[in-house]
Amino acid sequence: MRKLISIFIIAINLVSCNSKLPTDSLQINSPNNNLQLSFFLTENNTPAYTVIHKNNFIIDTSTIAIVLKNAPELKEKFSIIESNKNSFDETWEPIWGENKEIRNNYNELRVHLQEKTELKREFFIVFKIFNDGVGFRYEFPKQKHLNEVIILDEQTQFHLTGDHTAWWIPADFDSYEYHYTKSRVTEINAVDAGYEQRHDRHSNNLKAVNTPVTLKTDDGLYLSFHEANLTNYSGMTLAVKDDFILQSELVPALDGNTVKVQTPFITPWRTIQIAEKAGDLISSNLILNLNEPNVLENTSWIKPMKYNGVWWEIHIGKSSWDYGTGKHGANTANTKKYIDFAAKNNIHGVLVEGWNTGWKDWGDKTFSLTEPYPDFDIAEIVRYGKEKGVELIGHHETFGNVALYDSIVDSAFKYYSDLGIQNVKTGYAAGLLPQEFHHGQYMVNHYRKVVELAAKYHINVDVHEPIKATGIRRTYPNMMTQEGVKGMEYNAWGNGNPPDHTTIIPFTRCLGGPIDYTPGIFDIKFESEKKDQYVRSTLAKQLVLYVVLYSPLQMVADLPENYENIPAFQFIKDVPTDWDQTLVLNGEIGEFISIARKEKNTENWFVGSITNEEARELTISLDFLNEGKQYIAKVYSDADNTHWESKPTLYAVKEQEVSKNSELILSLAAGGGCAISIHLITKQNN
Ligand code: NOJ
Ligand code: CA
Repeated sequence: MRKLISIFIIAINLVSCNSKLPTDSLQINSPNNNLQLSFFLTENNTPAYTVIHKNNFIIDTSTIAIVLKNAPELKEKFSIIESNKNSFDETWEPIWGENKEIRNNYNELRVHLQEKTELKREFFIVFKIFNDGVGFRYEFPKQKHLNEVIILDEQTQFHLTGDHTAWWIPADFDSYEYHYTKSRVTEINAVDAGYEQRHDRHSNNLKAVNTPVTLKTDDGLYLSFHEANLTNYSGMTLAVKDDFILQSELVPALDGNTVKVQTPFITPWRTIQIAEKAGDLISSNLILNLNEPNVLENTSWIKPMKYNGVWWEIHIGKSSWDYGTGKHGANTANTKKYIDFAAKNNIHGVLVEGWNTGWKDWGDKTFSLTEPYPDFDIAEIVRYGKEKGVELIGHHETFGNVALYDSIVDSAFKYYSDLGIQNVKTGYAAGLLPQEFHHGQYMVNHYRKVVELAAKYHINVDVHEPIKATGIRRTYPNMMTQEGVKGMEYNAWGNGNPPDHTTIIPFTRCLGGPIDYTPGIFDIKFESEKKDQYVRSTLAKQLVLYVVLYSPLQMVADLPENYENIPAFQFIKDVPTDWDQTLVLNGEIGEFISIARKEKNTENWFVGSITNEEARELTISLDFLNEGKQYIAKVYSDADNTHWESKPTLYAVKEQEVSKNSELILSLAAGGGCAISIHLITKQNN
């Protein structure tokens, strides 16, 4: 009887929910029927959509409009010419990543719209409804009254159904390097939240955010808004409007013409990830699935790996990028020291910054990418590294001079490629020349050109000060990793990253794709170099970042001497950068998170939990292990008195036998973590 009543209640809910929608609305469900998208035209014949999750509206009537230059906006007086539905289900294998296989399963609604007015302009809206969210984009065919198109703004709405809690950073047209703020959506305001007002960089709208932006409803549902496949278009920020509406605002161009395109063209996907558990946002492959398959024929040269390098020592002030300072870090002997250390410790790349001429007076914006400083014997370094199985990772810092970089990038990649260098970190650490924004169409196209050119030379890239990650790595798997976050370097200057930062970014920034956070600092206080600076983390938590913050190029960032004779370094030696499977075991945004990952092509698992400022106990079930097998778990945990501020380097290591039936109780110190490596007990071990 109780069952009957609840069925009846569900039925009533459905009716009351859907009664808000026009009777002729087009509807499509997710494959598991938990989500329902409806498309319709409003009274003014403006295209609009809603999304229902298990009978509750999560996106209320949201309209779509595009503002054009020298032409009426595309907003009203549309009619639906035709609509089609399709289903799709495939499983594909990424070249590298968090999972060996990815299922791409959705239902599609394709709506052909045309204006009823004289211009009869037309476009398609394509919706893809997955079990974990929705993606939609606009496709413009070639047509008489839309040829050369200048888009001044796109007004795509996401009409929320309440004043949800948001984790956000301000809409800055140049940077994602911020700490996140938690507030209600209506309280989003960059100045009120204490962000420095940068009129040159922020959108004019202080009530706007960069994406991904992640929300939690009072009912405990998680939503994250972003974009996928950002190609030949401008980056999207989201502005808070009245009535809980988030509306897209595109990053402008210098000449005021935000996006210049020609029909036929398609926009990036606008994405809504929807999850009942915070961790399911991380397990979602929606962003990757909305990107095009790999276009590179030969990918044998693309290899995930750990790397170290002449980097942290510069940031903490021990050495310098500039040759003229008398403490130039990028010299042959110093680089060989890093190579020797890498060769001994399962690290396969060494990054060297400050190797090339142009670092004098940071910022005069002239540099060469083919002329090493006299104390850097690049050919000898490459030879030495190869002999030891360690590759030199190149560095292209552009100081923001994109015009100069554009003119030399081909020869710069050729130079590296001729030397046998296959990985390059790029950087745009300053205002740009020409004075475009980092996230406008001009730069979106520049960043893409660099990835494509790098692929031509069989070079993988790690981009700092990048355009946001939108899943391009699927199409160009040499697009390995990116910054676009306040990474480790912020602990070497400024106020440093607070302990909760790394418990927020897995649910926000990392939803876009891999992150070059550069973890692994063991000398947490580095008092001999910069007295006031330190890392707000325990040593054990540093280990866990290799599991929680995914990157196929993962830095072992500290100085070699700081790892010597530290048993916890064994975890970093062992941890891989490419995985068969990823499971998010638990997590709450800004509080804690636990992830388990299975190493590619082995039976080894690596598990890690981290916490914010609060010490806590977490119970982890190992039910993901194989039935009937015994394993050894090596547990690297905070010790009894560990605390991120007072005693960050205290930790304990213990080994225990575990199986599928085991549960581990992990004690995390304030600002701490617990890292576990799990290996099958083989007959030999027995
Ligand atoms: C900023 C980058 O994030 C950092 O990693 C690099 O060392 C400096 N720019 C210099 O290129
Ligand atoms: Ca940076």
